[in-house]
Amino acid sequence: MIPIARPQMGTEEKERVWEAMASGSLAQGPRVRAFEEAFADFIGAGHAVATSSGTTALHLALLGYGIGPGDEVITVPFTFIASANSILYTGARPVFVDIHEGTFTLDTHLVESAITPRTKAILPVSLYGLPAPMPAITEIAERHGLAVVEDAAQAHGAAIGERRSGTWGAGTFSFYPTKNMTTGEGGMVTTDDAALAERVRLLREHGMKVRYHHDVVGYNFRMTDLAAAIGLAQLPKLPGYNQRRRAIAGRYDRELRGVLTPTVPAGVTHVYHQYTIRVRERDAFAERLTERGVGSAIYYPIPVHRQKPFVALGYGNETYPVTERLTEQVLSIPVHPSLTDDEVATVIGAVNEVAAALGPIQPEVSRP
Ligand SMILES: Cc1ncc(COP(=O)(O)O)c(C=O)c1O
Repeated sequence: MIPIARPQMGTEEKERVWEAMASGSLAQGPRVRAFEEAFADFIGAGHAVATSSGTTALHLALLGYGIGPGDEVITVPFTFIASANSILYTGARPVFVDIHEGTFTLDTHLVESAITPRTKAILPVSLYGLPAPMPAITEIAERHGLAVVEDAAQAHGAAIGERRSGTWGAGTFSFYPTKNMTTGEGGMVTTDDAALAERVRLLREHGMKVRYHHDVVGYNFRMTDLAAAIGLAQLPKLPGYNQRRRAIAGRYDRELRGVLTPTVPAGVTHVYHQYTIRVRERDAFAERLTERGVGSAIYYPIPVHRQKPFVALGYGNETYPVTERLTEQVLSIPVHPSLTDDEVATVIGAVNEVAAALGPIQPEVSRP
């Protein structure tokens, strides 16, 4: 079976972890600092603060902007639940806005009508490795005095023009094993705002700048040096991984038939955390791919506003037509960098065969 993800661990990762273990620095230490500096440099952001996960990175970025009870944060319902949960953790209320049909990211045309006097931030998600429309979002946010937190958990190295995800307002990343690069578990907040970075650092460590002197109620959301050691070995490999993902995606774009393939706006660098197609009869489609030895996955089978905890909070009656339609149609196929050319050919053959058998999907008419 060709799996949907295959994390890569080489000798560099093993050696660096051994070094960290031998050094006795196991929790947050010099490797975390070195990884932060290298990641900030790679992204092109002034500051990077490592955290225990992408979820805690989101939580801290929002807290760093002072978001709390009584506030509203605009985000999308078509995402991993952490994007919205992080808003709930602060005591604020997520306000959902639908996504754009072509790109799976926040539809900027719908944002302004969702802004109320309580709105404090916009939290777009750069889903599947395609940056959300950050320039337009930033322009709206600036006009209304709102913070911007880009959930770039899936977008390491993605860019709009020359500007990478994670350089608008605050960006947050995840280093979960299936991501474009990993530290096992881990996350990062990136920003050019020195004061925000400082607050995130403080909150990450129990509000403590001077040992055992606590200025605010904080958390233990630290990354370990063992995780940072893996990150330091992975980061130099990320451009090559992304290049391979993009090459595989290029073949899919050219050779897949009878399915809808991703739309990438001009000048945007998609890093294909997922290559997500839209298909007819999705469950049967996935089953038939499995029969042909091709793994696939649905990201995500239920939109956030219809997940049980959100329904319990009174969400779930609103409808987001694009999200709901795409939820029924999306299917991610393997695009990880360790796929061989033969495996890529097998995926293409299987998808085309199944699409021919089940019938092609027709695109909905949508805004450009
Ligand atoms: C869009 C999105 N946001 C947030 C997260 C949370 O990251 P983590 O799993 O590292 O907490 C993830 C990763 O799973 C994600 O895909």
